Amino acid sequence: MPYPLHTPVMLDEVIHYLDPTAGKRFIDATLGYAGHALGLLKAGAEVVGIDRDIDLLNIAIERVTKEGFIKSFTPVNYAFSEALDKDKNLLEGKFDGILFDLGVSSYQLDTPERGFSFRYDAPLDMRMDKRLGVTAADLVGGLGKNELVELFETLGEEGNAKRIAGAICSERLIRKIETTEHLANLIIQTVGRSRGIHPATKVFQALRMAVNSERLELKAALPSALSYLKKDAIICVISFHSLEDRIVKNWMNDAESAGQIEIITSGVIEAGTTEVAKNPRSRSAKLRVAKRIL
Ligand SMILES: C[S@@+](CC[C@H](N)C(=O)[O-])C[C@H]1O[C@@H](n2cnc3c(N)ncnc32)[C@H](O)[C@@H]1O
Repeated sequence: MPYPLHTPVMLDEVIHYLDPTAGKRFIDATLGYAGHALGLLKAGAEVVGIDRDIDLLNIAIERVTKEGFIKSFTPVNYAFSEALDKDKNLLEGKFDGILFDLGVSSYQLDTPERGFSFRYDAPLDMRMDKRLGVTAADLVGGLGKNELVELFETLGEEGNAKRIAGAICSERLIRKIETTEHLANLIIQTVGRSRGIHPATKVFQALRMAVNSERLELKAALPSALSYLKKDAIICVISFHSLEDRIVKNWMNDAESAGQIEIITSGVIEAGTTEVAKNPRSRSAKLRVAKRIL
């Protein structure tokens, strides 16, 4: 399968903190193209790579195989909250570190039929895992006006949430909103085009986060991850959204107060200017790192 080039965000920093060497074992909870995972594998470590998106898991397996590391690699096709749920017993043994590189991959955004992007016309889907029951079109068609407003305000921080939700509710009385283009054009008609980001950016982000329960996934997975980590193991979390970073920060503070971890990064680490120039996606990335101490 052909796939575009992908540059992992803050790879040097992640490798620095996880410190992979032969014999160490890591969980990459958001495998994607295996960019970070390959960094760990090349240093001689073993990696369990989790991705809920079977397309990305297959791309990662192909890349890891091509690079000659498949024997040190275990792919897992589950949501990370499930894979790390101790009761499900899906992972074996303890690990020296775990990485979460949250959000969506460029493959998902750049594959029109996945319905993540307003740049292409496609069914309004946005599920990272086709086994999920509810699509973005289901939310746009089924939520009440106030629920849409709350969704766009909380997950999208969209200033025009009320106007957009009103326009959706009027439009869907006439015609179902089932495609990315239909929704994007409706938003443009409602709020106009301005300089800067596309007017549909925040609504699309909010829908994607809701369809994939992204905040709930993170809240469930962070505490579960601890039970798979050895003493002194490292947990690295890269987030791209202030709401997610807040979840990570609050959890790390609580876990530190409970004597479970020690926070290693005071505040967040951000990508340097050279990386941002080469990889604009890294601009909004925030890395937090902690060490398991129990
Ligand atoms: C930003 S990309 C990771 C890129 C990867 N670190 C690399 O360098 O190639 C995030 C990936 O995590 C996956 N993902 C997001 N949320 C997930 C979840 N709750 N469970 C499992 N995989 C998830 C997405 O499908 C996507 O492939």
